[in-house]
Amino acid sequence: DAAHGTIRVGGAMQRWGGRFTGETDERAGDFTRSIEIDAALAADDIAGSIAHVRGLGRAGVLGAAEVDALLAGLEDLATDAEAGRIEWDPTLEDVHMNLEAALETRIGPVARKLHTGRSRNDQVATDLRLWTRRAIDRLDAAILAMERALAGLAEREGEAILPGTTHIQPAQPVLFAHHLLAYVEMLERDRGRFADARRRLNVSPLGSGALAGAGYPLDREATASDLGFDGVTANSMDAVSDRDFVAEVLAAVALTMVHLSRFAEEITWWSNPAFGFVRVADAFSTGSSMMPNKRNPDPAELVRGRAAAAIGALTTMLGILKGLPLAYQRDLQEDKAPLFGAVGVLEASLGVMTGLVDTLSVNAERMRAAADEGFTTATAVADALVGRGVAFRSAHHVVGALVAAAEARGVGLGEITDGDVVAALQSVDDTEAGQLAADAGIGALARAAASVEGALAATDVIGGTAPARVRAALAATRRRLGPG
Ligand code: ARG
Repeated sequence: DAAHGTIRVGGAMQRWGGRFTGETDERAGDFTRSIEIDAALAADDIAGSIAHVRGLGRAGVLGAAEVDALLAGLEDLATDAEAGRIEWDPTLEDVHMNLEAALETRIGPVARKLHTGRSRNDQVATDLRLWTRRAIDRLDAAILAMERALAGLAEREGEAILPGTTHIQPAQPVLFAHHLLAYVEMLERDRGRFADARRRLNVSPLGSGALAGAGYPLDREATASDLGFDGVTANSMDAVSDRDFVAEVLAAVALTMVHLSRFAEEITWWSNPAFGFVRVADAFSTGSSMMPNKRNPDPAELVRGRAAAAIGALTTMLGILKGLPLAYQRDLQEDKAPLFGAVGVLEASLGVMTGLVDTLSVNAERMRAAADEGFTTATAVADALVGRGVAFRSAHHVVGALVAAAEARGVGLGEITDGDVVAALQSVDDTEAGQLAADAGIGALARAAASVEGALAATDVIGGTAPARVRAALAATRRRLGPG
């Protein structure tokens, strides 16, 4: 137990205990402790300490022998932390106190000089930036892998056509590859958001002290560069209380999870036998404990479900910040659980969705059959009439009448008769339409425009689903993503 006011080398003493005479209530100790969560910062905390010790040496605050002893101890500690050999003492509150005490156990009283010119406030702000930087680098690789999986599926199933929907109703035919590349676009923006956040967070708070700046002539820039930071924070009060970077990263995490969740939602529909567009591999499906027939896309459903936690993490962080006066307030300790949790959810979700996409089988015939239903080429037929001089609004009306006729007869737009087309053209009060009704070839023209291939080919603009455009987009995407 804590023996306040005495120096117990390596023992469990409160490291801030000098001015206290009473013990901490157990409930207060339990309530304020963070070691269960911030132990994840150990490697970054030690890296920060190593850079700080070097800085104290450069500033002449510590002698060469002291620096050497501290560095040797910290490097040992880093090895043990990496191997999971450090036993965390819950009475020592957090990772910073634990590591300082562990260092003292190993190298003795010189460890008591480690915290010179430093506060846990600039320390934890530094640790968390280092942790987040590493997390972003892992996430970037994981998002890239997911993009490559989507591009790979688009390449494998480059010919597949499905009915694109709006309002969940069949709208216009699109290439399956075009649909998949839409998700690549989202994920590429997500990578950009993470990269942007990384650029902004990559500055060192070390030397800010508790809030006012360290009282030693520290070369903050040298220490920052030791830690791979691009520079130093400009204001000590901001530096110890800024968690904008956590909010920014959580916003990027939440948005990426939202994108994965949208795709997961599509997988759940597409794999329903009523659609039958895709089959999720056994490896990414689960069964039912009661219904022997079931094949459930549970991983996709859980990605959708866990997106909620990521969204919650962002609102938690914003909620923590909104009432905080300068500078450090203990509320900030609550930044880690949402950050660590949401990053973990995203990493796991990217992993499982990448595997699911890599092993997905596609039923192009079912997709195509669905695209042939729902009059998905009606817009293309209207556009063809516009090409023959009919005003679009009139053409829209004509084709609406054609759809009604086809639906009444139970056929597709490809099977409409010359008589249907003539009647539809004459049903609008429009000179050009009336004249076109007299054209002998108009029925054939309408039927040709109603083919799925014709409709696809017609959407020939940058960003459109015309096969040539999609091929070019896919090639550009592949060049950008690299192989794999
Ligand atoms: N565990 C704290 C946190 O995560 C470390 C900083 C505590 N500083 C303090 N003065 N109590 O924010």
